[in-house]
Amino acid sequence: MRYAYLPYNLIFLNFLKHMTILVTGGAGFIGSNFVLDWLQQHDEAVVNLDKLTYAGNLQNLASLKDDPRHIFVKGDIADYDLLSNLLKTHQIRAVINFAAESHVDRSIHGPEDFIQTNIVGSFRLLEAIRHYWNDLDAEAKSAFRLLHVSTDEVYGSLDKTDPPFAEDNQYQPNSPYSASKAASDHLVRAYHHTYGLPVLTTNCSNNYGPYHFPEKLIPLCIQNALAGKALPIYGDGQQIRDWLYVKDHCSAIRRVLESGQVGEVYNVGGWNEKPNLDVVHTLCSILDQLQPRTDGKSYAEQITYVTDRPGHDRRYAIDARKLEQQLGWKPAETFETGIQKTVQWYLDNQAWVSNVLSGDYQSWLDTNYAARN
Ligand code: NAD
Ligand code: TYD
Repeated sequence: MRYAYLPYNLIFLNFLKHMTILVTGGAGFIGSNFVLDWLQQHDEAVVNLDKLTYAGNLQNLASLKDDPRHIFVKGDIADYDLLSNLLKTHQIRAVINFAAESHVDRSIHGPEDFIQTNIVGSFRLLEAIRHYWNDLDAEAKSAFRLLHVSTDEVYGSLDKTDPPFAEDNQYQPNSPYSASKAASDHLVRAYHHTYGLPVLTTNCSNNYGPYHFPEKLIPLCIQNALAGKALPIYGDGQQIRDWLYVKDHCSAIRRVLESGQVGEVYNVGGWNEKPNLDVVHTLCSILDQLQPRTDGKSYAEQITYVTDRPGHDRRYAIDARKLEQQLGWKPAETFETGIQKTVQWYLDNQAWVSNVLSGDYQSWLDTNYAARN
């Protein structure tokens, strides 16, 4: 009788084979949101490879501590042997590459890590995937996907009246960060063109939401406001970014992974262009309502103009029509609903914030802000 079940079990085991994804950089801001969302929607396991740089934080994933579907591995995407091993051991059917150095200001102060992770690391990842993919059987080979997560910053800077970035926009990266991301996008493209690797690339606008490291504008200003510190506005504060709630980015990635055409690029954006100064004023008025200052004044009094970022891109804007028209994706949040949720999250998670404000974070604040007037 036992053997009667064997064919069924074999089919089941075969089905389970290749039913694990590998997420790189899954302890960072977007990666951790993605892993949490993924495991809410799927039962498919996630191997999460992260180097745990200053930006990687296992507390983001604390709710998965006892979840057998989440396998965390501390390691570097530049480690070819480790990657090959993970791909084979877990029979990975898709890789989503979030791992990167991601902060423009840090790339200006020290570009080396950006070259190492975003270019050399992406190259090693591609090599490990190429060799693994080559050895798969025909069915698994055609089902396999590498989704590379990139940024709108590779397209350069727009003037006020320019149309938003479409997927065929020329690349004109202006910072060491965006140049290193552009290089990785080109490598991904070349691996498809030359080796036939089944890749997908997404270029997304500025994200915001839970677990955003407080070196970036929105979480930095929330935190500084609550701490009674200056809200530093670079230059005239009229630089424009196109903001997307992080969970909408995660749903876009899931959609592209599921239904995207191999070799294609998809721009992801929220149709939310805002000058930086407006964003900071919005944060101040939400905080004025949710946690008013004890002196009754507005947090906007803490706004301080500081020396501009060198080479500061004036405007980013994403044309997300391809993703909407071809794959039916739309963001669920408006900027107004997303930013309200975000401020509330930071107020509710001050313990998380205190934990990331370590010695390294303090020395970064000195490096970036001490020399600005
Ligand atoms: P993040 O800096 O918060 O997280 C990056 C993660 O990658 C961290 O957990 C870090 O430990 C890990 N990491 C860094 N180097 C690594 C290496 N060599 N090997 C393995 N792990 C490594 O970044 P994020 O904001 O979550 O961005 C994720 C991805 O999305 C990046 O590729 C970024 O370029 C892209 N992106 C970000 C935004 C945004 O607004 N934050 C917008 C568009 C695209
Ligand atoms: P940031 O969050 O660093 O993202 P990115 O540079 O990738 O767009 O910055 C968003 C915008 O806010 C950008 O135009 C720079 C500006 N900015 C400030 O004005 N003050 C700050 O302290 C920071 C960190 C950013």
